[in-house]
Amino acid sequence: DLAEGESHMHREMHEQPISAERMLRGRLDARFGTSHLGGLNLDARDLRAVKRVKILGCGSAYYVGQMGAQLIEELARVPADAEAASEFRYRNPIIEPDTLYVAVSQSGETIDTLLAVQEIQRKGGRVLGLVNVVGSAIARAVDGGVYLHAGPEVAVASTKALTSMFLGFALLALQLGRVRDLSIADGQRIVAGLEALPGQLKEALDLEPQLADVARRLAEAPSLFFVGRVRGYPVAREGAQKLKEISYRHAEAYQTSELKHGPLALISPAVPTVALVPDDELAERNVGALHEIAARGGPLVVVTHAGVDLGDLETSEAVDLTRIDVPRNEAELDPVLMTVPLQLLAYHASLHLGLDVDKPRNLAKSVTVE
Ligand code: BG6
Repeated sequence: DLAEGESHMHREMHEQPISAERMLRGRLDARFGTSHLGGLNLDARDLRAVKRVKILGCGSAYYVGQMGAQLIEELARVPADAEAASEFRYRNPIIEPDTLYVAVSQSGETIDTLLAVQEIQRKGGRVLGLVNVVGSAIARAVDGGVYLHAGPEVAVASTKALTSMFLGFALLALQLGRVRDLSIADGQRIVAGLEALPGQLKEALDLEPQLADVARRLAEAPSLFFVGRVRGYPVAREGAQKLKEISYRHAEAYQTSELKHGPLALISPAVPTVALVPDDELAERNVGALHEIAARGGPLVVVTHAGVDLGDLETSEAVDLTRIDVPRNEAELDPVLMTVPLQLLAYHASLHLGLDVDKPRNLAKSVTVE
């Protein structure tokens, strides 16, 4: 039950450590560095025959699908990509028998995603579902899949379902990887990372007071950028989407590397940038790009890890920078932890602006008409 005055979104955000644990329960195999997913209806030979993975979803489910595609490519070395299910059918997609299709949906009722599933099946393709609502239309239509077990999600902005979707991709990537070239040691490294995640989600949620402060400052900006690279880019897209959905502020996600090829002229003291800078092989390049933003007076909120050296960006009086250190996991799993401060940011911006956090205007929790 909700505490007095508490919103569904707030409660659902704070359920993430528990819902993540439920998603992983009984599905991790530390001994062999893999996962058990009972409902896939695919054996090792079927998994081995998969040549490509295509992920379909709408809104947040699409963005987490992009995170999942990255995970699958990294862990399993199987080419993977995500596409908006709402667009897919309209371009007469090429359906191949050795492609594994994955439909992602919290509600399991999003009509665009359901129709994409049916189009794939009509052409002989096999579709797995990553769905929260048991017995929903997409759950019934797919050829196999994984339930998220996140519990009911009421707020329009998806939080705990999104976290569990990411974990579902991690579990799938582990299996696809372990029937290929992912070593047992690397598999065990990922399993250990997943086991640590629920506790780290809690630590990320503990950043709430800091994010509430940041949100109060950013909420008045008419427009913001969210930037990230490779693993961080879909996180940036999801962060921008959340802010737009519930605070009605314009936010644009961009690949950090593409700023200089396009919108750098829009950066100014009035346009803040939220930048994802994980402690990975791109950290130094990312910090370089932040200098370009700082040079134009753009306020920076940097979502990063404790080990990352931001150099004089942090010490210079002339730079308006807020640093948010999220807990560090395995690099492949870090994106999910980086979504949490962005949820908190959007939530507190909406709250600060006096808006309806749970039921933003013009949006429905699931869109069941075309
Ligand atoms: C949109 C909602 O219409 O549907 C988004 O506004 C949501 O918040 C998307 O991510 C997909 O919903 P579902 O239920 O298919 O995951």
